[in-house]
Amino acid sequence: MPNQNSTHSLAMPMWKKAAIGLSILIVVLVIGGIFFLPSPKKTESAIVATPDAHGYPSVSASRLDEPLLPIQMPTGLDERKVALGRELFHDPRLSRDNSISCATCHDLARGGVDRLPRSIGVGGQKGEVNAPTVYNSSFNFRQFWDGRANTLEEQVAGPVENPVEMASTWEDVLVKLKADQRMVAQFRAIYDSEPTAAAVQNAIAEFESSLITPSRMDRWLSGEADAITSQELEGYRSFRRHGCVTCHQGKNIGGNLFQRFGVMQDYFAGRTVDDADPDQGRFRVTKREEDRFVFKVPGLRNVALTAPYFHDASEATLEDAVTKMGRYQLGVDLPPEDVQSMMQFLHALNGEQL
Ligand code: HEC
Ligand code: HEC
Repeated sequence: MPNQNSTHSLAMPMWKKAAIGLSILIVVLVIGGIFFLPSPKKTESAIVATPDAHGYPSVSASRLDEPLLPIQMPTGLDERKVALGRELFHDPRLSRDNSISCATCHDLARGGVDRLPRSIGVGGQKGEVNAPTVYNSSFNFRQFWDGRANTLEEQVAGPVENPVEMASTWEDVLVKLKADQRMVAQFRAIYDSEPTAAAVQNAIAEFESSLITPSRMDRWLSGEADAITSQELEGYRSFRRHGCVTCHQGKNIGGNLFQRFGVMQDYFAGRTVDDADPDQGRFRVTKREEDRFVFKVPGLRNVALTAPYFHDASEATLEDAVTKMGRYQLGVDLPPEDVQSMMQFLHALNGEQL
């Protein structure tokens, strides 16, 4: 007992010091947070502004000091992998009953989407969320609305084995590909092996990295002053002024942050959202309270081509999506003329489709 007491009395001052140290740290962090976090900032802890997998420069490195960064067509891709990946992307053998390819839901002639509220998979089954575009997806720091895949390669496994999408297994897919002599020859030439899941994923990811769509806005960002019209420029100014760029920024005008949907107002009010509901967003991946209703901020390139909008396809028109963004993310009722103006800007983000 005496021993325990003496240990206890010795430990007291240490505790106090630790407590004082901790309080100072908290004060510093809070003050730091006020100055350095972008507003609106109800979800500070959810903001993860890391450079993407390709090490693209951070937002502040923009030549024109704009929050958006221009893109160019990629160089240095392995053309043989791109060609094989293109074939595989369009190959329905990746699905259980050979009925559906990646392109079924990500139609490259339609902005890289199916334009359906919910995609239709094998046997007519409906998906949980709206299909995002595959164009420029290599610029996203994570894949999927909830960011559950870290890379494009990792992402490919999702749809192949998803029971409501391609409903297959790698085993099944590989049996089919190995029975195709021409396919086998291509894999041997490129990967020095028979078809494997890793090689299929690698080729498709390489193909997706080629799906880059520079737009007139990129020419403007690169210094070509008359690449966009004065209305489009006005729309961009409005987009900046209203603060859309706090979330939609960088190379993909999005795709580099997680943010809550409903920062200023509860977007899901009146809905029953249990823990398994896709409306929970990133919470389903991390199970952290602060990640409820948090989503990857979608990139806005080609957005005028990819209606309907939001993970739940709840808005049919771009105009309504922009208006809702003002209300729920910024807490403003955007004047209709600003909405129209921003629509012009968003159209200038349509790139050359491949
Ligand atoms: C049945 C329709 C369907 C098929 C088939 C399909 N996808 Fe998707 N894709 C979706 C949906 C829906 C999502 C969004 C899922 C989510 O976020 O939870 C998605 C998400 C993605 C994303 C993430 C984009 C982003 O911005 O987060 C990529 C990349 C992608 N798919 C590529 C592919 C590839 C490659 C294939 C073929 C191997 C494929 N998809 C097959 C419907 C489909
Ligand atoms: C606080 C961060 C934030 C701000 C500010 C913000 N957005 Fe968003 N935006 C998001 C998130 C998150 C989503 C995805 C919501 C969802 O579907 O769950 C999104 C989705 C969108 C979409 C739909 C894209 C698609 O493919 O479905 C459009 C269009 C859009 N935003 C435009 C804007 C405009 C215009 C502004 C300014 C008026 C703006 N956003 C401000 C975070 C933000």
